[in-house]
Amino acid sequence: MRIGLFGGAFDPFHNGHKAIIEAAIESNLVDYVFVVPSVSSPFKPGNCLNAAPYRYYMTSDAIDEISVRHPGKVYICDVEFYLEGVSFTLKMLELLQSKRYFSAFLEKNDIPFSKEDKISFSLICGSDILFSFDKWFEPKKIVSLAPLMVALRPGDDASLVPKQIEQIEAKYATNVTAFSINSIDISSSFIRNELNFDDVPKAVDDFIKLHDLYDKACLLQLVSDDCYKQFLKYSSRLYFALSRKRLLHSLDVALLAVKYASLYGENTDKALVAGCLHDCAKELPLQKQKEYAKTISGDVFDNVKLIHSPAGKYVAMCEYGVTDEDVLNAIIYHTTAHSGMSTLEKIIFLADKLEPSRNYDDLTLPRQLALQDLDVATYVVLSRVKEKFDEYNVEVHKYTLECLDELQRIGKTCNLSDEDDCDVEI
Ligand SMILES: [Fe+2]
Repeated sequence: MRIGLFGGAFDPFHNGHKAIIEAAIESNLVDYVFVVPSVSSPFKPGNCLNAAPYRYYMTSDAIDEISVRHPGKVYICDVEFYLEGVSFTLKMLELLQSKRYFSAFLEKNDIPFSKEDKISFSLICGSDILFSFDKWFEPKKIVSLAPLMVALRPGDDASLVPKQIEQIEAKYATNVTAFSINSIDISSSFIRNELNFDDVPKAVDDFIKLHDLYDKACLLQLVSDDCYKQFLKYSSRLYFALSRKRLLHSLDVALLAVKYASLYGENTDKALVAGCLHDCAKELPLQKQKEYAKTISGDVFDNVKLIHSPAGKYVAMCEYGVTDEDVLNAIIYHTTAHSGMSTLEKIIFLADKLEPSRNYDDLTLPRQLALQDLDVATYVVLSRVKEKFDEYNVEVHKYTLECLDELQRIGKTCNLSDEDDCDVEI
């Protein structure tokens, strides 16, 4: 079994990446390609990289598209989520090749395998890597675990590249293999900077549109460096706690909350953390949620649809180390709201209901309102929450009713015609 590993930040995954993967398969130098999105790249510090789950699931969608032509050949690999700290290639290779991870990975992906199979790995890379490979962490150990397999582009320098290959082979006592691709030069940073998505696979384009991915990447510039790093850690950890849909929703909420916070003069760091963690307990077993909710608030939130809020506060405190009361309150009240809400609480409540991938109804109006007046937007969304509860004959929480009363009292309401009506999910 010959496995080619193709790593990268994939921010975004583009047609150049796709061309390398397809050419690697067609070269017959490998049986499978495992695509490994980095979680925290040693080469890309700073506030420009999207959180790892976005890049991972976007790449996963691209692989599904590639698999239509190459079924059972290309797999997304989550090994980097298991690594602590910066994603060095050597650490990734050691863990990937460990029996514990590798067997589970083959099994999870239904990749046929027998104990007699001889397994070899190679590291697929562009020819540019040849000229920076010396700077990698422990290059000799890397090639001992996975020799380089280089994609040669038509524009590569015909004299420089072979010479560089020879040098690497001599210096690290390794064999470099090469295969040709017919790809034009595309770079992720160009796509990000120009917001030009002509050269990404359709599945990637759809993903980017669904999550407003690059329109809002600059929002991360509005939070402190420490908070950004914390956010990356939280979002990688949530990979193990939440399903794809809920994790991407949580990240979408976090970034929309930052947008609202900057608009209304609220603390963007707190908005990012509260948004990211607001549903952190939602996929725990119900019994655990009940237990945690009781510890935090007794029987105040007795509806099963609501208990993930106090349970979320518990998990944010005990597992993620959050101590900020404003953040914890925003998590606990994101389902019911309450009278006398803080700006941060309104922001998380609204971001949860209005983030870009929410598509339960036409949210144009509440989304517009949220950019103009948080109270009116809260009233509109909360009214629909109440209607939905009434519809299902479920008792509306007293905090919700108190909040609606208060907003009515201070005139923060909005009369919606039937056509403007919107529905909400809790
Ligand atoms: Fe949510």
